Amino acid sequence: MSKQFDVIVIGAGPGGYIAAIRAAQLGKNVACIDAWSTTAGTPAPGGTCTNVGCIPSKALLQSSEHFEHAKLHFADHGISTGEVAMDVSKMIARKDAIVKQNNDGILYLFKKNKVTFFHGTASFVKAVDGGYEIRVAGKAEETLVGAQIVVATGSNARALPGLPFDEDKVLSNDGALRVGATPKKLALIGAGVIGLEMGSVWRRLGAEVTVLEGAPAFLSAVDEQIAKEAKKSFDKQGLKIELGVKIDNVDTSGAGVKLEYTNAKGEAQVLEADKLVVSIGRVPNTNGLNAEAVGLQLDERGAIVVDGDCKTNLPGVWAVGDVVRGPMLAHKAEEEGVAVAERIAGQHGHVNFATIPWVIYTNPEIAWVGRTEQQLKADGVKYKAGSFPFLANGRARALGDTTGMVKFLADAETDEILGVHMVGPMVSELISEAVVAMEFKASSEDIARICHAHPSLSEATKEAALAVDKRTLNF
Ligand code: FAD
Ligand code: NAI
Repeated sequence: MSKQFDVIVIGAGPGGYIAAIRAAQLGKNVACIDAWSTTAGTPAPGGTCTNVGCIPSKALLQSSEHFEHAKLHFADHGISTGEVAMDVSKMIARKDAIVKQNNDGILYLFKKNKVTFFHGTASFVKAVDGGYEIRVAGKAEETLVGAQIVVATGSNARALPGLPFDEDKVLSNDGALRVGATPKKLALIGAGVIGLEMGSVWRRLGAEVTVLEGAPAFLSAVDEQIAKEAKKSFDKQGLKIELGVKIDNVDTSGAGVKLEYTNAKGEAQVLEADKLVVSIGRVPNTNGLNAEAVGLQLDERGAIVVDGDCKTNLPGVWAVGDVVRGPMLAHKAEEEGVAVAERIAGQHGHVNFATIPWVIYTNPEIAWVGRTEQQLKADGVKYKAGSFPFLANGRARALGDTTGMVKFLADAETDEILGVHMVGPMVSELISEAVVAMEFKASSEDIARICHAHPSLSEATKEAALAVDKRTLNF
């Protein structure tokens, strides 16, 4: 006899587990199925984000930043440390403990919200009267029936053709987060978000890092002025980034990895490294889902086709997060999960794609929301720009980190904020003010007129808003 649920969520990453909790809050009888296991075979809900993404990468970024600060900057504060050493295995163990706290936290939240959790791989069997039959293949086999199905099966790292990940010499994000000792030489292919974050971690720990990027421009989705400023910092730190390269061959037969590539000038180059991280984007994951059994429509990239409300081509089947179109971000997945749960409950869930923030957690951090200057130009929008450097911010000076700036772009006529772009200290936190402002359709003058605490980094946001009207006070 199959178990019946109002809602079955497949995948317990940020899209799935949040959808399950929200649906349960709205009175639905909910099951959530997730396949991820710890090395001991126990459930590890939280998806890519918790296990091999957002959380562990930020843990390693923090550890490596402390290390670099202790080595390079403590002396400026009068602190002497003697020789500073890094125990990589301890750093990795700390990261693993943080991941486990998050896995356990999600299991606790399921209990608290009365979501029934199943550990195993879920697949569609068939459409049945009043819903869909779902098989769970785990330690125990289960057959469930759900009136509504939410697919949140996430994404996997994209491999270079002919070069599968072995997680020893050729690493995906998974292997890059559990290297046992700092490699002497690390190569990365792809100077996107993962390339810059993971490259930064291992450079800070002493690896000689080279990032090979195919595109001719650095971080082309980022506002050009901000990307330029960030690149200057990475160059100064010794994070070597080569743009406009073409990878010709990767040879893993020796002790390390030998990369043959053509550089932007058309010259043949060779790069040898102990390990290679391939970070060239991610592909939507529908492995094991048996989408064909029910005729669930996928596009040419393998993503589940959805409309603006996350409805698939099948009645009662929804999909959210990395497995559908849109940015592959945890908070985007969460927002879609909440909106779908609310729509299932007859409410009017909504996701505003125009105000989804992006953050790259390097040093300096890079954060933005809304349109870039180059996008506004391409869209033919008349705009005013205002920026303010952290160099002129008292808190940034006290912190000892004056890199970067805050930049506002506002409509030339109405002054509505169209984009806010930041590079500098803690801008991952500062960007929220801009998101709120844009969500409320604020003008740059609105921000300029708001009292910001002194001394704080957020004063740079206020000053950049003032700069739109050419009336900064401290610069
Ligand atoms: P996922 O998190 O991928 O979860 C999908 C889950 O479904 C997995 O647990 C999987 O095991 C399970 N599953 C798949 N198929 C089945 C099946 N058939 N049956 C049962 N279970 C199944 N985003 C940010 O916003 N901020 C960051 O700082 C950030 N850092 C990142 C760092 C790295 C290194 C990486 C790789 C990604 C990062 N991301 C970050 C992106 C973020 O991790 C994803 O956007 C997010 O995890 C997507 O959530 P999701 O729920 O759609 O899918
Ligand atoms: P990405 O899309 O950010 O960057 C991939 C880079 O690889 C691009 O610059 C691209 O031009 C380059 N590239 C592609 N093919 C190439 C090739 N054959 N040779 C050389 N370069 C090539 O993808 P990434 O870094 O793998 O991350 C995947 C996704 O995970 C991100 O897009 C983001 O959605 C998410 N993520 C988010 C983070 C955050 O929010 N802080 C952190 C890490 C990942």
